[in-house]
Amino acid sequence: MGKLQDKVAIITGSGAGIGKEIARTYASEGAKVVIADFNENALNSTVAEFKESGYEAFGVKVNVAIEEDVQKMIADTVEKYGRIDILVNNAGVGDNMQAAGNIEDTIWQRVMDINVTGVMRAIRQVLPVFIENGGGTIVNMAAIAGLTGGRGGLAYTTAKHAVVGMTKNIASHYGEQNIRCNAIAPAHVETGFAAAMTNVDQFGMQQSIRGVKLMPKAGQVSDIANIALFLASDDSSLINGVALAADGGWSAY
Ligand SMILES: NC(=O)c1ccc[n+]([C@@H]2O[C@H](COP(=O)([O-])OP(=O)(O)OC[C@H]3O[C@@H](n4cnc5c(N)ncnc54)[C@H](O)[C@@H]3O)[C@@H](O)[C@H]2O)c1
Repeated sequence: MGKLQDKVAIITGSGAGIGKEIARTYASEGAKVVIADFNENALNSTVAEFKESGYEAFGVKVNVAIEEDVQKMIADTVEKYGRIDILVNNAGVGDNMQAAGNIEDTIWQRVMDINVTGVMRAIRQVLPVFIENGGGTIVNMAAIAGLTGGRGGLAYTTAKHAVVGMTKNIASHYGEQNIRCNAIAPAHVETGFAAAMTNVDQFGMQQSIRGVKLMPKAGQVSDIANIALFLASDDSSLINGVALAADGGWSAY
C-alpha cells in the first residue's frame, strides 16, 4: 500500500523538471496523477512514459494563467476520477534575472500571471471540490527567492513571496475544513529552468549570484519530490501554512 494509495493528484507543470518527478513519485506511491502542462508534447510523452511504467496517469493541456484552462483542468479531473485529493501548484517561469531598474512590463506581467495568478486560480477552483470531499492538500512551489531578498530578479522574488503569503492565508482560512496548504522553497535545482531564460539582465544576475559560492550543493528533482510527497501525505498531517526551505542550509547563513 503506497503513501498516496488511490489519491487523485493534479500536478501543474508536470511535463518536465520538478513537476514531472513529483508526479512520478506520487504515482509510485499509488496516486492517480493528472499531468497538467501547457507543453502538449511534454505532457503526452510523460503520460505515455508513466503508463508504460504501470502508473495511472491522465493528461490535461493547461496554461495556468488562463481561467478557462484552469476550470477545464479541475472539471476534466473530476469527470475522469470523481474526486481531487491533492493539488501541486508547480508550474512557474523565471524573470531573466531582471533587476528593478531594468524590469520590462511584459516580463513582470508574465511572471505574475503564471507564478501568482495561476496559483490563485487553481486554488480557487479546487477549494469547492476539497470542501465537498471533506478536505484536501495543496503544495505550492515557491523558491528560496520567496523567503530571501537577493537571490533572483525583482518579478520572480516578488511573485514567490506572494506564493508564500498565499500559502499561509489558505492554511489559516481553510485549515478548519481539513485543508492543508504548504510550500516548498528550493534553491537551485538541476532542471531546464535556468536554460529557458533568455536575454539575461547582467546587473540582476551579478547581484543575485553573489552568495552562490556559499550554497552547499545544488538540489536534484528527487530531493524536491520527496519533500512534496511528505507534504502531500498524512506524514505531515499537523503541518499547515509553512514554506520549507529546500536549500541544503544556504539561506541559514
Ligand atoms: N529549477 C530551479 O532551480 C528552481 C528553484 C526554485 C524554484 N523552482 C520552481 O519550481 C517550479 C518548477 O521548476 P522547474 O525547474 O521544474 O522548471 P522547468 O522549466 O524544468 O519545468 C516547468 C514546467 O512547467 C510548465 N509550465 C510553465 N508555465 C506553465 C503554464 N503557464 N501553465 C502550465 N504549465 C506551465 C513547462 O511547460 C514545464 O513543463 C517553478 O515554479 C519554479 O519557479 C525551480
